[in-house]
Amino acid sequence: MTKLPSIGKPISRLEGHFKVTGSAKYAGEYDVPDLLYGYVVNSTITKGRIKIIDTAGAKALEGVIEVFTHENRPSTAWFDFQYADMDAPPGTVFKPLKDNEIKYNGQPIALVVATTFEMARYAATLIKTAYAEKEFETDLESNLEKAREPKKGLASMLKPPPAKPTGNFEEAYRNSFVQSSGEFKHGTEHHNPMEMFATTVVYEGKNKLKIYDKTQGTINSQMYVANVFGLKMKNVQVIAPYVGGAFGSGLRPQYQLFMAVMASFKLKRNVRVTLDRSQMFTFGHRPPTLQFTKFGADENGKVNAIYHEAIAETSQFEDYVENVVNWSNMLYPAENTLLEHKLVPLDVYSPLDMRAPGGSTGIHAIEITMDDLAYQLNIDPLELRLINYSEKDKSSDKEYSSKELRNCYLQGAEKFGWKNRNPEPRNMKRGNKLIGYGMATGIWDANRLLARVQAIMTSDGKVELKSAVTDIGTGTLTIMTQIASDELGIPLEDITFSYADSAMPFAPIQGGSFTTATVGPAVKASCKALKEKLFRKAKNLRSSVLSDAKFEDVVFSEGFIFLKENAEVKISIDEIFTFNEGKEIKTTNAAMPNPLVYGKKARAVHSAVFVEVEVDEELGIIEVKRAVTAVAAGKIINPKTAESQILGGMIWGISKTLHEETILDDQFGKYMNANLAEYHIPVHADIHELDVIFVEENDDFVNDLGVKGVGEIGIVGMPPAIANAIFHATGKRIHNLPIHFDQLL
Ligand code: MOS
Repeated sequence: MTKLPSIGKPISRLEGHFKVTGSAKYAGEYDVPDLLYGYVVNSTITKGRIKIIDTAGAKALEGVIEVFTHENRPSTAWFDFQYADMDAPPGTVFKPLKDNEIKYNGQPIALVVATTFEMARYAATLIKTAYAEKEFETDLESNLEKAREPKKGLASMLKPPPAKPTGNFEEAYRNSFVQSSGEFKHGTEHHNPMEMFATTVVYEGKNKLKIYDKTQGTINSQMYVANVFGLKMKNVQVIAPYVGGAFGSGLRPQYQLFMAVMASFKLKRNVRVTLDRSQMFTFGHRPPTLQFTKFGADENGKVNAIYHEAIAETSQFEDYVENVVNWSNMLYPAENTLLEHKLVPLDVYSPLDMRAPGGSTGIHAIEITMDDLAYQLNIDPLELRLINYSEKDKSSDKEYSSKELRNCYLQGAEKFGWKNRNPEPRNMKRGNKLIGYGMATGIWDANRLLARVQAIMTSDGKVELKSAVTDIGTGTLTIMTQIASDELGIPLEDITFSYADSAMPFAPIQGGSFTTATVGPAVKASCKALKEKLFRKAKNLRSSVLSDAKFEDVVFSEGFIFLKENAEVKISIDEIFTFNEGKEIKTTNAAMPNPLVYGKKARAVHSAVFVEVEVDEELGIIEVKRAVTAVAAGKIINPKTAESQILGGMIWGISKTLHEETILDDQFGKYMNANLAEYHIPVHADIHELDVIFVEENDDFVNDLGVKGVGEIGIVGMPPAIANAIFHATGKRIHNLPIHFDQLL
């Protein structure tokens, strides 16, 4: 039995064993009787329409049950009305097989359903398609004249538009003691989680479906299916206990879900649709983005003028926006600011949130511009951040609920050995290799939404909690169990957290680093309500020794309710259940931020990142030899799973900076490296020493657990810290991502 308290302990994932032994089942792995397999056919042109789609050859094969195209797809209510999803940007959601129009390369145009996956995939090769092609535009830089303001959609607190200009940027910049300006170009990236998108639909009879889906939100997928197919919510159950990575790609229902449900519903059969790796490049990506910065500072290093503009790709049907340019206001409030974010609609699929969407883009440009200012001023880059340190978020003019960024800088610098840095570029060497030290700040929102949780205690004193929330690999199952354990005063082993089932109480999509801060308080609230129920029952026992006690006067521990003042006065949980005739005791409770109070303070997590690179100019190798990330994110429930989140983010930061990019050939409008052989990600040999520090941060404002959330914060500071270290090593300032060695020549 693990000892209490559970919170704060580095407990290994409770489901880890199932994952590493292969017994964890993912969406495409459920054993379902008489299963049919779907394979999707994708458009090979970028824009135009389908003139002919000939499915006769495919249909003639034995084992092929049906081929769905825009010509024979079942009609659903959705084709006449708008329903999007919880993460849909403003615009018109893409509807697979709606009609013969092609909007992007890789668009799904048919679904082959067969008795085996192999047969479906082979049959797909026999489908003959004739297109009428139209001219298309897929290149951001040659279409900048089309840049425009994003359409207004539902105002999202998670993605605020650029803050209004303040002061007079032009004049302040012109008169600044030092000025730094830069142009930054980021390539496209695709999520590429290990698990590819898959949906298994169990046809349970007329109008009723059970769906195993790869998703970050079971209720998001449930609502989507119910709305799109005109079903009752209670007749659609979506289950997703194991998710093999998602990083934002599962925030929106993807087309395999639509295809699988459509086929299942029409054929009244169980159907599975699995995408292959190249198809993982056909439904959303981090958008290529151009950025322009101009920062001005006075002779003391105080930044007084900030201009930050982003121009990003979107599709022709949705206006995907993310927060790229607001971060400077949150980190280094200047009196004179001008922030802009524009979109260029191109003939591609809509971009999609990818870990730290916007943040990992914008903070890169901000932190490199700051580094350049530091060099111009001859001030240590860390010192420049401290000179511009702010307790307030300028965009909302509010104090932070807590901000231990200063300690992140100090503890990170100490651990890294920042003081050993010779500030002069090209002056630190190891053998014939150049060494560079670079640093950067990271920031991400600390948000919280509404969630509900049910708590059920059975007569053996064990507790089951239920929530629709998913665990996309973040450790949610473990963390929620820890929170319940401490609140109830019972060991982890006696608690079951049941989750990732849309039939369970509401939780939003898992994303934005807000799950622990959202579902955690609901777990706590339902456990507290459960204790109150037990306590009331204890008081009502005949000649109860607690009849005069108040709830505040008792503690729950080891199967008893004790009087705090006198542990001799107690009632056992057993006794309560005997009185309750062995019936379970349950309660469902919601938790959400108090709308009257929550907006009164700014809320963010912070990090300071320190990186050592080694550059071999002869062999053309750039390596990140060491990195330290110090994070302030409020209370850390589980230092082990939290550290894993940060390490994953740091590795992705290295990947984003030195490896990852999807290359689109504008002649064809098609991604040319849509596979894992040519879409580069780091291997073990690319990753060296990584350290994570969690700086103590107490925050009783964000929620009653004091948690802010860790996830995105791991990636945001890495790309600029690496780029700054490369400058320090080589004297060359590279603004674009990814950085390849030829840029240093
Ligand atoms: Mo994250 S982009 O919210 O998975």
